[in-house]
Amino acid sequence: MSSLSRRDFLKLLGVGTVTAAAGGALFARLSERPAAPGSTQAAPTAAPALAGTPDVEVALRALPDEVPVFSGKPTQVWRFQGQVLGGPKEALQTLPKTYLGPVFRLKRGQRVRVRFSHDLPETSIVHWHGLHVPEKDDGHPRLVIPKGTTYTYDFTVRDRAGTYWYHPHPHGRTGPEVYRGMAGLFIVSDEEEQALGLPSGEYDIPLVLQDRRFDENNQLVYLENRMEQMTGFLGDTMLVNGQPNFVLPVATRPYRLRLLNGSNARIYKLAWEDGTPLTVIGTDGGLLEKPLRKAFVTLAPAQRLELWVDFSQVPVGTRLRMLSLTHGVPGGESAFPVFTVEVAREGKSDLRLPDRLSTITPYREQNAANAASPRTFTLAMSMGRGWAINGRTFQMTAVADDETVRLGDLEVWSFINQPAGGGMMGGGMSIPHPMHIHDLQFQILRRKVAPRWQALWDTLGGGFVDEGWHDTVLVMPGEQVDILLKFRDFEGLFLYHCHNLEHEDMGMMRNYRTVL
Ligand code: C2O
Ligand code: CU
Ligand code: CU
Repeated sequence: MSSLSRRDFLKLLGVGTVTAAAGGALFARLSERPAAPGSTQAAPTAAPALAGTPDVEVALRALPDEVPVFSGKPTQVWRFQGQVLGGPKEALQTLPKTYLGPVFRLKRGQRVRVRFSHDLPETSIVHWHGLHVPEKDDGHPRLVIPKGTTYTYDFTVRDRAGTYWYHPHPHGRTGPEVYRGMAGLFIVSDEEEQALGLPSGEYDIPLVLQDRRFDENNQLVYLENRMEQMTGFLGDTMLVNGQPNFVLPVATRPYRLRLLNGSNARIYKLAWEDGTPLTVIGTDGGLLEKPLRKAFVTLAPAQRLELWVDFSQVPVGTRLRMLSLTHGVPGGESAFPVFTVEVAREGKSDLRLPDRLSTITPYREQNAANAASPRTFTLAMSMGRGWAINGRTFQMTAVADDETVRLGDLEVWSFINQPAGGGMMGGGMSIPHPMHIHDLQFQILRRKVAPRWQALWDTLGGGFVDEGWHDTVLVMPGEQVDILLKFRDFEGLFLYHCHNLEHEDMGMMRNYRTVL
């Protein structure tokens, strides 16, 4: 681990206004709350569109609760609870022994209505991460609702079969709300996917990876000092689906594992302990064209990866550990086990890994409206404001000229992680930024690494799965990542931001607006 020294952190502390400014801004923002939040009238666009009957209707409630995580005292959490009000009961799947919210299981084309309410001591709103939904359904922070009120979402699932998720999005408080337990998966299937015969039912396993820190009373501990905010929160206890020391019992047959990095800031470098390569079949936006074999895979915050794992040849009784290996950015100082698979019984299956999984039409750079002059987004420390994008931090409704895009356009965006930002912080922090764009899935065009940062990049870069569709991409220090993205269907205000939730909360987030 090269350039992130304690001295750099101490230098950061010198910029004491960083957190203070963020806190002050939070108060301002909270008072900006719409006067009558909680109904779709507070939604930004007309046409609340509540007419007609949805295919699935769900009540989703967030509330403080306690769950047993360790033996002894239960852990205080904030969690989502769901109830199917209409449509098939299988639309919600409850994971055992967890604070995580229910897993939505929907089909492409279904119309879903979600009545979100909460009983929390602060405002909140739910965002459907990775889904292509209208502005009013995207969970923008200006739509937050107070305790005891309801926000109704009503949208059609237009997305490819894949593993998406939901979490709160109140500005300045996403980190703590997710940390306390508010998150859940949103799994979409379609006919093309079902025809493949991938492992399903009990052989299709969601695994949500989250690192946490607990005190001696089994209670969650969040950010303990300001330095931690600059790197993002890193816990010392690994939870999978909300459980420590997670063991997955399997049969000798193929499985589909759906991994979500639900951590606030931790980056995982996942590999089987015995060196068996991983077979990746899907990313954020669903299945790849064909399976991909990797010695290890990198999973940045908010990203998903789907694996095909065949235990057919593994003797019953074998225990296999999935590790996170060492790497050069914060959190990668030592390797640790993430979960254990225990081959517990014989299993039978004729399933075979298909050679082709889906069709992905590549976007062409030459078709981009801005091919000649890509939009660039420089990710760097801004004096007195912490992490910023092009020197700007979040303002609730502000959109700069270079953040306005045309509906229907394909564009190239370049994210540039500039560690030697000049000025006071010059050469200081080298932190990766998992950049997320709302409302769409993009394609990764290329990565360029400055020679000075190549060695650091090499500690993680070999695990990047740049194939397929993504809504979040990790941009390493000294790296430029060019992506191709297309704005479709919905006019309005959407977000792009760093999904290191501590960075997001300090304002490393901006709006973009789609216009006709
Ligand atoms: Cu998962 Cu705006 O985020
Ligand atoms: Cu999102
Ligand atoms: Cu960041």
